[in-house]
Amino acid sequence: MYYNDNTFNEASIKNYLSMANQNLNIIVEKSVTSTNNVLKNMAEKGALEGTVLIAEMQTNGKGRLGRHFHSPYNTGLYFSILLRPEISSQEALFLTTSAAVAVAKSIEDISNCKTYIKWVNDVYIKDKKVCGILTEGSIHPYTRRLDYAIVGIGINIFSPLNGFPTELKDIAGSIFNHTDFSNTCKSHLTARVIDYFMSYYNNLESKSFFEEYKKRSFLIGRKIYVVDKQNYISATALDITNECHLLVRYEDGSVKELSSGEVSIKLIK
Ligand code: BTN
Repeated sequence: MYYNDNTFNEASIKNYLSMANQNLNIIVEKSVTSTNNVLKNMAEKGALEGTVLIAEMQTNGKGRLGRHFHSPYNTGLYFSILLRPEISSQEALFLTTSAAVAVAKSIEDISNCKTYIKWVNDVYIKDKKVCGILTEGSIHPYTRRLDYAIVGIGINIFSPLNGFPTELKDIAGSIFNHTDFSNTCKSHLTARVIDYFMSYYNNLESKSFFEEYKKRSFLIGRKIYVVDKQNYISATALDITNECHLLVRYEDGSVKELSSGEVSIKLIK
């Protein structure tokens, strides 16, 4: 049942958030450069775990591997969650993969869409990307443990009024059409993603998200290119390991486990 005040703010989000997460510090801004960058500054100044920075648009949204993330006003959801987990930098990959499951499940809860996850951090509907996730961390110089992590999530909820820019037309999709726009729906989706994500995060060692992650894999069994710098290497995606690494077989028969690192994956159509 939607809250009938059609606004998007801390109160409208908290209206849908579970009791367990009412104490999170939710901040909603009209426009920021990048919620990841702004929250990183706040983290350096001592902001607490559970600070969530949400923006209605970003002027400099960032994606993986230095890419830009298109973040127009109103049609998307752009937010970052500050965490201070006691985990190694390898385990930090579970923050990204559990966030992908949180987004995938939330989209299915509020729409009739079936979602897929493209290793490691993209959520798809049909063959279009509707969400990207960028996790950034800071390692403590003495302990070498994670000092804090920022999980940044960008979701195209509604299609932009004038469509996606030419360079994104074949890649990007949205959950709903622009005519379906509603702030209550946006608040509901935000709260659901946070609720799912925090429940996975609070039991990260149980990896309760993993089966859902693997089940939605967009890649297993498909022909892909592993893109390493400028090199496109053809392979078949075989499986996702318990560490959330992608197991691939190259054309020469060799099998390799890829961690998210610097590679990206393209489907061979
Ligand atoms: C990707 O697709 O490569 C990851 C995209 C991550 C985008 C989100 S939007 C909120 C947060 N702030 C950013 O600048 N990036 C992330």
